[in-house]
Amino acid sequence: MSSSSVQPHLEPQVTRRRLISILLGGGLLASLASFFYPVVRYLVPPPVADLGTDEVVAAKIADLKSNSGKIFRFGSRPGLLIMNADGTYRALSATCTHLGCTVQYRPDLREIWCACHNGLYDLNGRNISGPPPRPLEVFDVHLRGEDIVVSRKRES
Ligand code: FES
Repeated sequence: MSSSSVQPHLEPQVTRRRLISILLGGGLLASLASFFYPVVRYLVPPPVADLGTDEVVAAKIADLKSNSGKIFRFGSRPGLLIMNADGTYRALSATCTHLGCTVQYRPDLREIWCACHNGLYDLNGRNISGPPPRPLEVFDVHLRGEDIVVSRKRES
């Protein structure tokens, strides 16, 4: 028998073990990220986008019945025009402050409702129930001939 012995070659095994650890660690991180990302998106509202305009004709007077609402385009975002039961108008941003779904007027509740996660706002745009974290932006409304004109509130 010779005095030289064959040493086992450990390097490839260590490398393989390290590779498996990296793959398992990466898979675990990916699993955690895919679990937490939707949770974080649910809890953190998106930033408010700029409207891109100051005034629009939201509707004609004849377009709305009492106690009804209409979605209109206010620059880059939707707006909600409401004719109250007493004939007065109200206009607000129609972008839910939770995750940005478009809200709608609920004539049965006389409130503004977001169907996505059952968020509720009063007619002053205040978030009163559900996940929305802040009120809707309220716009000014005035009549110009047959047009219902909506504009950004002027800071006073
Ligand atoms: S987007 Fe969640 S309540 Fe409106």
